[in-house]
Amino acid sequence: MGQVFVTRRLPGDALERLTAAGHALDVWEGAEPPTPEQLAERAAEADGLGCTLTDRIDDALLDRCPRLRTVANYGVGYDNVDVAACARRGIAVSNTPDVLTDATADLAFALLLAAARRLPETRQVVLDGRWGTWEPGEYLGRDVAGATLGIVGAGRIGEAVARRGAGFGMTVLTNTSRAGTPLDELLARADFVSLHVPLTDATRHLIDAAALRRMKPTAILINTARGPVVDTEALIAALHAGEIGGVALDVTDPEPLPADHPLLSAPNVLVLPHIGSATTRTRARMTEIVAENLLAGLAGEPLPQAVPVPVPRDAPGS
Ligand code: DGY
Repeated sequence: MGQVFVTRRLPGDALERLTAAGHALDVWEGAEPPTPEQLAERAAEADGLGCTLTDRIDDALLDRCPRLRTVANYGVGYDNVDVAACARRGIAVSNTPDVLTDATADLAFALLLAAARRLPETRQVVLDGRWGTWEPGEYLGRDVAGATLGIVGAGRIGEAVARRGAGFGMTVLTNTSRAGTPLDELLARADFVSLHVPLTDATRHLIDAAALRRMKPTAILINTARGPVVDTEALIAALHAGEIGGVALDVTDPEPLPADHPLLSAPNVLVLPHIGSATTRTRARMTEIVAENLLAGLAGEPLPQAVPVPVPRDAPGS
């Protein structure tokens, strides 16, 4: 039977399936994630590892975990895991696709609506006791119906956001690295730009100063993907210069964003603490997928949600 280390307490009871199958389960008990040193110490004898986006699974860690065969990431994004380094050691990696598509798409749309109709700002008016009377010309926001929504990255979540946009009467443009509306054109035409690309070398700072300058000065940028897809310094400058109309972010660079970070004092900024998949049912289903993949890996079977191993650039045919 195998040994499993899981780096956070995960919602639901699916991890019990590991102990029911006779495996030894060790779950990090801290409220904060383990440090890299704590992770290496606790995973040193593990055959299976359940990890989250706050854990870096890289050569330095893997060198200290000689028995490891399975890494089950609690999240659909797996930029925290060096999949090539795992593959070199015969370690299979899984993620949690599908189950969080609707929750994340809902949150992207909630950010879109909140920014369009100025919800954070107007809620503060009520809390501050500044709600004097009904005002014909105050708190005017943007119409969503009839506006153009630009989706960058049309995978499962991007497509789910596109469906929501169509349902709200928006014109939807999509861009992928290979198809759809060219990125420059999408940025120039969209009233709302929603990011749904994974974080890779190709997408890091995809939205840089030049991309922000292409957007309409009234456009709102929504990011529920990964913070580093946007160049934070360029974003702050663009907001202060009025080059875009606002930003609604579930993810930031860095994460967590310190309370005194200059992004938070830039105009028209709404930031949430990376809650895209945070519904009770979704997070429990993500735990089920982590458990299923660990069980498969410990049994020496292929992982049901294995992520693809990147092909080295100089490999024949690549
Ligand atoms: C993911 O799954 O990648 C989310 O960002 C974390 O829930």
